[in-house]
Amino acid sequence: RVSLGTFSLRPTLKRMPPHTQCRKSNQPSHKKTSIFQTELMDTRAARPFSFSFNTSDYRILLMDQDQGRLYLGSQEYLVALDMHNVNKEPLIIHWPAPAKRKGECQMTGKGKQGECANFVRLIEPWNRTHLYTCGTGAYQPICTFINRGWRAEDYLFRLVPGYVDSGKGKCSYDPKQENVAILINNNLYAGVHIDFMSTDAALFRTMGGRTAIRTEQYDSRWLNEPVFVQIQQIPDSAQKNDDKLYFFFREKSLDSNGGASPTVLARVGRVCLNDEGGQKSLVNRWTTFLKARLICSVIGKDGVETRFDELRDVFIQPTQDERSPMVYALFTTAGSVFKGSAVCVYSMADIRNVFNGPFAHKHGHNYQWTEYTGKIPYPRPGTCPGGTFTPGIRSSKNFTDEAVNFIRAHPLMFHPVYPIHRRPLVVRTGVDYRFTALVVDQVDAVDGRYEVLFLGTDRGTVQKVIVLPKDPTSFEELTLEEVEVFRVSPDEIQPRNLYVSSDAGLTQVSLHRCGVYGRACSDCCLARDPYCAWDGESCSAFTPSTKRRSRRQDVKHGDPLRQCRGFNAKVEKRLRETMQFGVEGSSTFLECQPRSPQATVKWLFQREGKRKLVREILKTNHGILLKTLNQTDAGLYHCLATENNFKHTVARVALRILDRDIVLALTAEDEDEEPKTRPVEPHQPQSSFVSTPFPPEIRLINQYCQSYWEQLSPKQQQQRKRTSRRHTESQDQGLG
Ligand SMILES: *[C@@H]1O[C@H](CO)[C@@H](O)[C@H](O)[C@H]1NC(C)=O
Ligand SMILES: *[C@@H]1O[C@H](CO)[C@@H](O)[C@H](O)[C@H]1NC(C)=O
Ligand SMILES: *[C@@H]1O[C@H](CO)[C@@H](O)[C@H](O)[C@H]1NC(C)=O
Ligand SMILES: *[C@@H]1O[C@H](CO)[C@@H](O)[C@H](O)[C@H]1NC(C)=O
Repeated sequence: RVSLGTFSLRPTLKRMPPHTQCRKSNQPSHKKTSIFQTELMDTRAARPFSFSFNTSDYRILLMDQDQGRLYLGSQEYLVALDMHNVNKEPLIIHWPAPAKRKGECQMTGKGKQGECANFVRLIEPWNRTHLYTCGTGAYQPICTFINRGWRAEDYLFRLVPGYVDSGKGKCSYDPKQENVAILINNNLYAGVHIDFMSTDAALFRTMGGRTAIRTEQYDSRWLNEPVFVQIQQIPDSAQKNDDKLYFFFREKSLDSNGGASPTVLARVGRVCLNDEGGQKSLVNRWTTFLKARLICSVIGKDGVETRFDELRDVFIQPTQDERSPMVYALFTTAGSVFKGSAVCVYSMADIRNVFNGPFAHKHGHNYQWTEYTGKIPYPRPGTCPGGTFTPGIRSSKNFTDEAVNFIRAHPLMFHPVYPIHRRPLVVRTGVDYRFTALVVDQVDAVDGRYEVLFLGTDRGTVQKVIVLPKDPTSFEELTLEEVEVFRVSPDEIQPRNLYVSSDAGLTQVSLHRCGVYGRACSDCCLARDPYCAWDGESCSAFTPSTKRRSRRQDVKHGDPLRQCRGFNAKVEKRLRETMQFGVEGSSTFLECQPRSPQATVKWLFQREGKRKLVREILKTNHGILLKTLNQTDAGLYHCLATENNFKHTVARVALRILDRDIVLALTAEDEDEEPKTRPVEPHQPQSSFVSTPFPPEIRLINQYCQSYWEQLSPKQQQQRKRTSRRHTESQDQGLG
């Protein structure tokens, strides 16, 4: 069992300011399921790391762009990996909870699943030389500084000796509780559970010069059993006093009247960074806290709406305008019966419109939220003090009582935020897996810039999906490939990589493996992978800087007829015909797997020069099953794939049918305990090919088996030798 937890993309966005702007992505983990072996697996895709120490529960906590390092937190350990050279010995800090504390923790009965340890959950940049880190500290959160030196060459990574801070309000007590946190100007903003029993969840501000401040305690209108997913500062205007912190979470619905409304709701919330709390009421509480619902749903062909309410992950993609990043959010359906996932994308303009719109109002416990239509106090609740519209108000302590009391009772906006085009970018329903984590990369291709989504699944894989604009109001989604992540096979290092972490460990995955799309121009073109292009010889990594005219790529249309003129015929000729045997009366499987999941497959049967569609068959994603074979089934089978009106032959199989009686006679002989092998003439050379007196069919089987084994890798051959040693003798005589 593995769980795919946080995962984060190695930054390729050079314009991101260094150091203090380093952002971590701290996402939920409890996503456990069994590993799944995908057919598309190419062992070179994933490079798992193995560490010499005994730990678990890995989280990618921070990409340090200054020093080209990746920081991991796990149970009692912190690790710094060199992103430019992952083979370099990582720097490791052992940071256990004090033995005394572990003992106390055990006494409370909490340690049943090993929680009485220090699970590192936060690493944030503090200044040019130091990082700030927090862990659960065996149910008593602790924090401290790490000295990472001025430069990567210092090769420094160690705890500041003797220094320990309380981690209350910075890190959860329970390692199973998610938390998010960010350090801005030495203030730590954290969405955490701040008590031992995990009943009090809050958005907290601690440290730095400002007063500690939090969300209203035990007020379900503010937060109702929230699970925090992401937190980020997003400026609202050129005026610094307007700077806001946006956070994304899910929480229990307050209106669970008879099951008509969802039990879980996805939320975006925000506060002003310069909030100092109220003067008379909301003292040391946010006076600018607002939240709104995020909607992500689809209407099926039958008119039934499927809602995705369980927010799992958020990826904030910067744009040219730092006030308007794109918000990619990953959702699953709530509940356990029906497995569905979706990705929706939101614009900051839409989010701000909702925060500028009407407030929601709730009369009493048993009433629904309705639109508030009364008078709204000045300054409008949620406005930052000293901002563009409130230059005269120096502090949130100067807000009128009326304004403060209003926000206390009306933290929720009436309108929800709808995704761009009012529909998800990616939807998965009727599948046996869920998405768990999301990362977006921007890729410059020949025909424009594309966003590629990497989606972790609860079966241990990562799907690579591209979304193409179809017309001004919709888009088309294409799954490029699926890679299994947690399997061991180190190989060469790719320059651009994806790091995936989980309970089980950390793995590096190539962003592109152009080779898997096949050896043909058409395959490369149909793949529509913006990372890859046909260079005249093979499908290889595309870098926009090397603008060579011979590079063929067509992400938008995937039209090989236009892009690959002159290349296609060559490939068809190169396609090898494979020979396969079937036994009369039994079944056989003809394999054909087009490289692209979007292709439709058709089989043609050719006999005596004539081609026709294959008779009634059982068709799967991997090929066809022919049942109750007889001699009339012998012939040549063509597997044709069609995609974007482009047809090409993917496989060609020559099927031979063996006489049932002969096969039975031979297998009966083979099953004898002491096989009565046919006497071999002493002068006859020992060969694995059979000569007379066997019928010609058997000679063919032997040739087929021989060539089959020769295709296997040396390792597989060894394995085969081990498992079939008992049959070696008969094999040598041609009966293998
Ligand atoms: C690793 O730690 C776990 C519990 O923390 C323990 O059960 C296991 O035996 C340890 N393995 C090794 C190799 O020390
Ligand atoms: C960074 O912060 C640490 C901890 O407060 C301090 O010891 C160190 O001197 C600071 N470094 C710089 C360069 O300011
Ligand atoms: C704002 O609040 C501060 C402290 O609470 C107070 O000293 C100051 O007079 C107030 N200013 C205005 C304009 O109300
Ligand atoms: C062989 O199978 C085909 C298709 O099932 C059938 O039409 C044909 O009669 C069979 N021929 C013999 C000789 O059994």
